Amino acid sequence: MARARETALITGASGGIGLELAQVFAEHGFDLIVVARREAELEALAGRCREKHGVRVHVLPMDLLVPDAPAKLVQQLADAGLEVDILVNNAGLMDVGGFADIGERGRGRILNVASTASFQPVPSMALYAASKAFVLSLSESLSEELKGTGVTVTVTKTDMYERAHDQHAVARNLPELFLSDVEDVAREGYEACVAGRAVVVPGLPNRLLASAVQLYPRWLVRSIGGLIGRRATR
Ligand SMILES: NC(=O)c1ccc[n+]([C@@H]2O[C@H](COP(=O)([O-])OP(=O)(O)OC[C@H]3O[C@@H](n4cnc5c(N)ncnc54)[C@H](OP(=O)(O)O)[C@@H]3O)[C@@H](O)[C@H]2O)c1
Repeated sequence: MARARETALITGASGGIGLELAQVFAEHGFDLIVVARREAELEALAGRCREKHGVRVHVLPMDLLVPDAPAKLVQQLADAGLEVDILVNNAGLMDVGGFADIGERGRGRILNVASTASFQPVPSMALYAASKAFVLSLSESLSEELKGTGVTVTVTKTDMYERAHDQHAVARNLPELFLSDVEDVAREGYEACVAGRAVVVPGLPNRLLASAVQLYPRWLVRSIGGLIGRRATR
């Protein structure tokens, strides 16, 4: 379904899931604002999307870890007269102020990229899992709070995809069944976002795993995670 002339801002669009998400949004007729540090990769993506899908793409190279980056980004958008219809928080959390203080426009969508690590503690990836649990909880609460306002929040509990399998020891200890194709992950995230769904877990095996870890006692889930983590970091 074409949704021409709406704009999606995607952080971390120079590689991985963010790059795939950008291509899926472009394919569906969205203009793009793409943010990451590597300008050359963003420009290459922009060129491909303009040529293939005829969409407008604004490249905003930026390090989002710099404390004033969110304010700078908001200023750059205002200066360029750009409005954001869909915000895809893929590179990380963008803190633009207290939630209670943020004015509401009455429409728009947010897609937060979490992880299957959001469901349970992951020994050997403790900080990562804790931060993704934060993203999941925050997104679910906001999704409820914003019901009826025209603004929706979707969170994808993305699983490890193939490249992560090569890069991370923990992923190498997971059965291949739980590894996804990065394009499928982006497509499922996109579909859920435009449909305004609160939560999506891409891939049937991961949906089953996500349900299973809710059923077992925390000590058991934690201990199994510890075994996998110790094997991975040995
Ligand atoms: N990989 C997996 O299997 C997996 C599984 C579950 C969830 N996730 C989640 O999915 C999201 C994307 O992961 P990924 O694997 O696609 O990551 P990735 O391939 O490493 O890509 C990360 C993207 O974020 C950008 N980025 C990183 N630090 C940045 C900064 N300080 N400022 C601006 N941009 C920055 C990078 O661009 P530059 O380097 O150009 O800045 C890149 O475009 C993350 O939220 C991750 O937690 C991933």
